[in-house]
Amino acid sequence: MASALLQSALSMEGVSKRFPGMLAVDGVDFEVMPGEVHALMGENGAGKSTLMRILAGSFDDYTGLIRIGGREVSIHSPAAAREQGIGMVYQELSLARPISIAENLLAGRLPARWGMFLDRRRLQREARAAMSLLGLDLDPLKTIGEISPHEAQLVEIAKVLGNHPCILVLDEPTSSLSREEVQRLFEIIRGLRNRGLAIVYISHHLPEVFEIADRVTVLRDGKKIATCDIHEVTPHSLVRMMVGGHVDEYALRREAPVGDPVLHVEHLTRAGFFHDVSFTLRAGEILGLAGLSGAGRTELARSLCGLDPVHHGGTRLAGVPLARNDYPANVARGITYLTEDRKRDGLFLRLPVTTNLLAAMPAGRGAAPGASLVERRLRELAIAAASPEADAGTLSGGNQQKVLLGKCLNAEPRVLILDEPTRGVDVNAKRGIHEAVVRLVETGAAVLLISSDLPELAGLSDRVLVLRKGRLIGELPREALSEEALLLAANGQLEACHGAA
Ligand SMILES: Nc1ncnc2c1ncn2[C@@H]1O[C@H](COP(=O)(O)OP(=O)(O)OP(=O)(O)O)[C@@H](O)[C@H]1O
Ligand SMILES: [Mg+2]
Repeated sequence: MASALLQSALSMEGVSKRFPGMLAVDGVDFEVMPGEVHALMGENGAGKSTLMRILAGSFDDYTGLIRIGGREVSIHSPAAAREQGIGMVYQELSLARPISIAENLLAGRLPARWGMFLDRRRLQREARAAMSLLGLDLDPLKTIGEISPHEAQLVEIAKVLGNHPCILVLDEPTSSLSREEVQRLFEIIRGLRNRGLAIVYISHHLPEVFEIADRVTVLRDGKKIATCDIHEVTPHSLVRMMVGGHVDEYALRREAPVGDPVLHVEHLTRAGFFHDVSFTLRAGEILGLAGLSGAGRTELARSLCGLDPVHHGGTRLAGVPLARNDYPANVARGITYLTEDRKRDGLFLRLPVTTNLLAAMPAGRGAAPGASLVERRLRELAIAAASPEADAGTLSGGNQQKVLLGKCLNAEPRVLILDEPTRGVDVNAKRGIHEAVVRLVETGAAVLLISSDLPELAGLSDRVLVLRKGRLIGELPREALSEEALLLAANGQLEACHGAA
């Protein structure tokens, strides 16, 4: 990169931001050139989101200098940031759920007729055009509440692109996207880069970073550790910079005996989502569920535990039928679902971490075991919070995910359904989560695991069911599990994948 000749698009110099009791960003220098994709990496809580939220005008009390196109600017509000051409796609989505896709997409620049009335036809037309950039074909009049998290993610990106930013920040944009969607997003990012945009890309996903980034900056404990050309680093050296020391390799596989069946799913059908699904889950077993996004994995999981409707068939837990459409009653009976959508229905962001951790505890437990249970979860999941009394919303994204898991574990489930359990968590935290899941099944509980992280699915599962277009099309035994086999299976090529393993 000929940075000596080019004027940087963005330069932050000695930037700091303090929250009560902690310095989240500590004297960071960060520079992005026009036509560059610059990855920002670091462990959960390293300060990545905070650094970029400073740029997006979330805080009026940062210190340090920000230059855009060489000119010093002060950015003390989101409006000021937009004026400077900064567009940010947030880690936690910011769309208004009860409002239509179209109005969300064009918020702040709604088309008017005669300067007075909302021009609905134009609104829909422009919304469709904005979405088609990302290959999205949704009814613009649907509300955000009616679409899936990965669709909402794409709408969010379309919204930010619609403001034609010159500096684009993407904070973990792919955590709920399928491989195909990620590839489409990368095409768009490359196109924007070629047009000279400066792009900041935050991700925990190393292969993605190596695929898309030109340079990478690593933060640790709020400080900048290094900025490197992507060709100067390896996945291993990057991880070492992030964690500040040695990284252990670890084996996920375990040899635990599998016990009697605990969960029977029989001919379960929800019209339009999945059809005639039957399987058995045994005590001490981790059963993986593979499939492409849209295959019906989340829908199946939600229906079988009573969160969403069922049209035919049913689920039995330890021989007793579960209630249709009464999730709380089913939780009390021993089945818990860890949501794939933390923001939507996972945590109470304005309540303390403690309250969240204890929110799903079985009734009849006193407050006394609560305190020690909270301490135990904080320790075993390495949850980084200023204090257990801090609001869950003040934790970094990855740490919120760990609180969510802690809450589900505290429900003491006999069957735990995990839907994307390690979304947005860093390497070490992921390992902590995997170990907690293995400890849980070793006590005789059973786990149904949905994950787009194929090494995770292959490494943790005892066997994997393959769901395609709402139907179970086969099963892979542990010996056949590999990343490649799972990918082939999800695409309907079961025969090929036995060869691949
Ligand atoms: N609104 C807030 N109030 C108090 N502390 C906060 C707030 N937002 C962030 N923090 C703290 O600042 C630190 C940096 O958090 P940040 O969200 O920037 O991390 P991150 O690098 O984006 O992590 P992740 O990979 O988990 O998203 C964390 O310790 C977090 O708890
Ligand atoms: Mg973050």
